[in-house]
Amino acid sequence: MSVKFKNVGHIYSPDSPFEYVALHDVNLELPLHKMVAIVGNTGSGKSTLVQHLNALLKPTSGEVHINDRIIVADEKPRNLKSLRKVVGLVFQFPEYQLFEETILRDIAFGPKNFGISEEEAEARARMAIKQVGLDESYLMRSPFDLSGGQKRRVAIAGILAMDPEIIVLDEPTAGLDPQGAKQMMQLFADLKNKHNKTIYIVTHDMEHVLNYCDEVVVMKDGRMIHQSNVEDFFAEGELLNDLHIAPPAIIKVKQMLKERGFKLSKANDFDTLVKDIVKEVRK
Ligand SMILES: Nc1ncnc2c1ncn2[C@@H]1O[C@H](COP(=O)(O)OP(=O)(O)OP(=O)(O)O)[C@@H](O)[C@H]1O
Ligand SMILES: [Mg+2]
Repeated sequence: MSVKFKNVGHIYSPDSPFEYVALHDVNLELPLHKMVAIVGNTGSGKSTLVQHLNALLKPTSGEVHINDRIIVADEKPRNLKSLRKVVGLVFQFPEYQLFEETILRDIAFGPKNFGISEEEAEARARMAIKQVGLDESYLMRSPFDLSGGQKRRVAIAGILAMDPEIIVLDEPTAGLDPQGAKQMMQLFADLKNKHNKTIYIVTHDMEHVLNYCDEVVVMKDGRMIHQSNVEDFFAEGELLNDLHIAPPAIIKVKQMLKERGFKLSKANDFDTLVKDIVKEVRK
């Protein structure tokens, strides 16, 4: 079982004056049961890439493999429902995902669509709304009367209620306050650690990459230019410069100390760092 992109290209509006090549020959294998960050500048192709994971977009060349399914250019993917049961995608703009009269109906829509009874779907909606940090009183409200951050939470709940194996999140913490963003990241980490889910997350937040993710994929101008574990990613000074990515404070501080000859352990938390500094200074 795996997730693979083989020579994937994506052209928006091909053969029209608006033709735009958004993905160039992407080859990529994404691990399961990990949290993988997809990073890169605005317009680099992150959303385009992840929308291939549940066939919302189809490659215009190449193949996308998801477990035993292969989505190829020029072939209408069959049985999309079964794919979308496995891969749940939360859009970058939650408005695109919300459409029912009440939040309850919105969240219960996905599970019902997969043939789950009304009762069970509503039970899942009640659980999901709490998971994303809202209480049950929201369920009878309209999804359109919510703030941006609340809409995002409801959109995430809608995907959680479907209980997919692979959860794809396109900037899920945009619009949340720092505390809310942290709780959301912790929820995703729990889904991975306790429920064995696979999480692919598009993000611009390097603290989240450092603190929660296992691997990083970097997109640039529609190409996949780097894939590694998080530690190696933050050690790529030139790449970070090139992408105008400011690494998290702890990474910068550790680099400065190392340049001054300090021996530091691998862990990237302040507690360990302070202990290391004390040890080094005492030497
Ligand atoms: N529907 C579309 N039609 C034509 N071009 C598009 C369409 N959607 C995206 N693009 C173009 O494809 C490129 C990649 O867009 P994409 O949304 O994948 O970038 P992104 O990395 O997700 O950016 P951001 O960080 O701003 O969300 C951009 O140049 C964008 O203008
Ligand atoms: Mg995007």
